[in-house]
Amino acid sequence: MALLGIDVGTGGSRAILINEQGKVLASATENHEPFASPKTGWAEQAPEDWWRASQIAIRSVLKQGALDPDTVTGIGLSGQMHGAVLLDASGSVVRPAIIWCDQRTQTQCQWLTDTIGTARLIELTSNPALTGFTLPKLLWVREHEPNEWTQVKRVLLPKDYVRLRLTGAYATDVADASGTLLFDVSSRRWSPEILDATGLPLDHLPSVFEGPDVTGAITADAASATGLPVKTPVVAGGGDQAAGAVGMGIVQPGAVSATIGTSGVVFAATDRPALDPEGRVHTFCHAVPNRWHVMGVTQAAGLSLRWFHNEFGTVKNDDDRDPYEQLCDEAATIGAGADDLLWAPYLMGERTPHLDPNARAALVGLTVSHTRAHIVRAILEGVAFSLRDSFTIFEEMKVPVQEIRLGGGGARSTLWQQIQADVYGQQVLTLTAEDGAAYGAALLAGVGTGVWSSVDEACNQAVTVASRVDPDMTTAERMTDHYIRYRSLYPALKKVAYT
Ligand code: XUL
Repeated sequence: MALLGIDVGTGGSRAILINEQGKVLASATENHEPFASPKTGWAEQAPEDWWRASQIAIRSVLKQGALDPDTVTGIGLSGQMHGAVLLDASGSVVRPAIIWCDQRTQTQCQWLTDTIGTARLIELTSNPALTGFTLPKLLWVREHEPNEWTQVKRVLLPKDYVRLRLTGAYATDVADASGTLLFDVSSRRWSPEILDATGLPLDHLPSVFEGPDVTGAITADAASATGLPVKTPVVAGGGDQAAGAVGMGIVQPGAVSATIGTSGVVFAATDRPALDPEGRVHTFCHAVPNRWHVMGVTQAAGLSLRWFHNEFGTVKNDDDRDPYEQLCDEAATIGAGADDLLWAPYLMGERTPHLDPNARAALVGLTVSHTRAHIVRAILEGVAFSLRDSFTIFEEMKVPVQEIRLGGGGARSTLWQQIQADVYGQQVLTLTAEDGAAYGAALLAGVGTGVWSSVDEACNQAVTVASRVDPDMTTAERMTDHYIRYRSLYPALKKVAYT
């Protein structure tokens, strides 16, 4: 018996096969074409390319796992959130998908905020209008490409286009639907009020399911395209953040993850739709029935380090270890606090807590005695301070944080683990499985097909802790002083770095 999880990401589509103990049997990623950016701030991808990559990744895991494909008993999907996939009446793609990081919709967001009002938007959808969300993208196409818009009869989220090709069903899950701004997150259904206010027809939108619900089954065409057995059930799954949280066992209130990938996400599971009246964190449905989550997003977390590496490189050319490991080793030679050097990581604007697409990054407090190593250390600490901003908001919202689990590249470096423990002032945990969203999607498939009786049970059996890192309390106190200094950077930069 095997379960298949598919994550339709930005860079590529990943497939993984697991068994009923949650052990990974095979995994494969097929890259996508890099997203197109026909104008500054735009980001578009071809949905057919996701389907091409998914087919290759699926075929590859079936081959690697050397399994009789008939042993695959359930499939789960996860994927990049917020994208607008626009289809005509026959299900053909009308224009390239506008994806999550596209920033063209400031005017449409302003219109939504003016027409509906910030407080009312938060009341109806639990979130403010943000440029990356799906609804403002639909309004942009309606306004700027009226000919294309008249052909649009169906709107899907990215992973749900792959679902359409696998099963023929127009369906999505509550977690991914939450990032559209068209969804009533508290009642877990499309919002009639938002549809009414924007004049969008309900029949353009897919049916919505809970994460473990079966949404359809592999068609004969999909079976010959992928090698999967016909009629295998496909569950709803979840947007990548919610599915990734399931993969890390973040399902009960009190469990929180801090994931540093390209972006940084602090994610807490809740048993109610916890709201920040200022909308600084996202409030979405979880992929677990009857649970929600809140999440704060740092736009340029791992990206800060990647930027430094791309622009300034590593020191030794003859060291063939992973360059990020080398950078972290360099930073480890410097004491906590980087001799008062601070990094504000706003290389791509910021979501939490500033909601400011124009924010700018800065390295502040340089003296002649600072070295490259200080700068790398300041970057690692600055990213952790930025994630601490999300914890600060959770505290204001009374969202409990009992256990912090680390994910992404930030969980792999022992230095970044310790920096996070010291900056958050709390023990942090690392996990054995690192397959994130695809792993969570496979667990949801297991719940939907009766391998486990609930998502909690799946996580209890499959997700295991690898290590625990305690904060050094003296360092933690010092880091709190630095965090207070860090918080004064954004308002100061707002005055001088841009208008
Ligand atoms: C979540 C978000 C990203 C995308 C891309 O709000 O924007 O996680 O889903 O992975």
